[in-house]
Amino acid sequence: MAIVNNNLVAKIERLKKQKNAIILAHYYTLNDVQDIADVVGDSLALAQEAEHLQADIVVMCGVRFMAETVKILAPNTKVLLPDWQAGCSLAESCQLADFEQFKQQHPDHIVVSYVNTTADIKSLTDICCTSSNALAIVNSLPKDAKIIFAPDKNLGNYINAQTGRNMLLWDGACHVHEQFSVESIVELKQQYPQAKVLAHPECKKQVLLLADKIGSTAALLAYTQQSPSTQFLIATEAGILHQMQKLSPQKQFIPVPPVDSTCGCTDCNYMKLNTLQKIADVLEHETNEILMDENLRQQAQKSIVRMLKISNNNGNLLNKK
Ligand code: 13P
Ligand code: SF4
Repeated sequence: MAIVNNNLVAKIERLKKQKNAIILAHYYTLNDVQDIADVVGDSLALAQEAEHLQADIVVMCGVRFMAETVKILAPNTKVLLPDWQAGCSLAESCQLADFEQFKQQHPDHIVVSYVNTTADIKSLTDICCTSSNALAIVNSLPKDAKIIFAPDKNLGNYINAQTGRNMLLWDGACHVHEQFSVESIVELKQQYPQAKVLAHPECKKQVLLLADKIGSTAALLAYTQQSPSTQFLIATEAGILHQMQKLSPQKQFIPVPPVDSTCGCTDCNYMKLNTLQKIADVLEHETNEILMDENLRQQAQKSIVRMLKISNNNGNLLNKK
């Protein structure tokens, strides 16, 4: 296996040089994918990277909405997705026709969408946000603004609680983050009483109430580095443990188990579709290219550019406690 992987890594490196390509990867991807990526980051960092690309080809090791975001921001770059099935349950929970109707029912509302949406939804959005900058984005809007927030109801509820807003929430959720429960955390706390509980804001409210730190993947990672604590219970997709462990090898990271899932783990099955073999294949044959209608791209771009402007001028990492 190690020899196969070494050969694949060598092939990927050769193809990258030959084709002026780079590899972007989200923290939830497989360890060996993170290890060969030029940039590993949260969804905000990956979008920011797309703003200043020098490469001709980007292989986006994440999910489709992340690859679409790169294409929207860098239309002249060829963007490849290693596995065409790498979708996102949260993005899927907000379909164009339903959302159009919802928006029409509330014509006086500003639309704020989480980046975990399709390009279609972004084209109906006034301003995007990620979990890193959600509070800054919503706080940048007038206090009395009427706001629709889509698609994640858990993140929406959390922003409402933190900002005192009363945003109208789309009823969407992530199938991975909905798996974390109060019971599992309480049980683990008995075993690790000193451990800090870290949770992504896509988790349910009851879980967030138990957290010592709520934040985006990047914010949680930064917390583990800065905190004097040595044990952490992690209530987000388990791929993030790889960077946590790499950056703080002396500390202990315990993934919170799911209530119920087919793998018994908290892996995002979509993120884990990205493999070294598929990266080598798409780089070699330039397949699985993200293509987008130019009108749609320009419409969707406005909401992301607005987000990046505010985000680049403000502190980012979603902070609580
Ligand atoms: P981050 O913005 O924290 O990277 O999260 C993206 C995501 O898909 C969470 O499920
Ligand atoms: Fe989408 Fe959830 Fe996977 Fe994140 S973890 S990419 S929100 S399905």
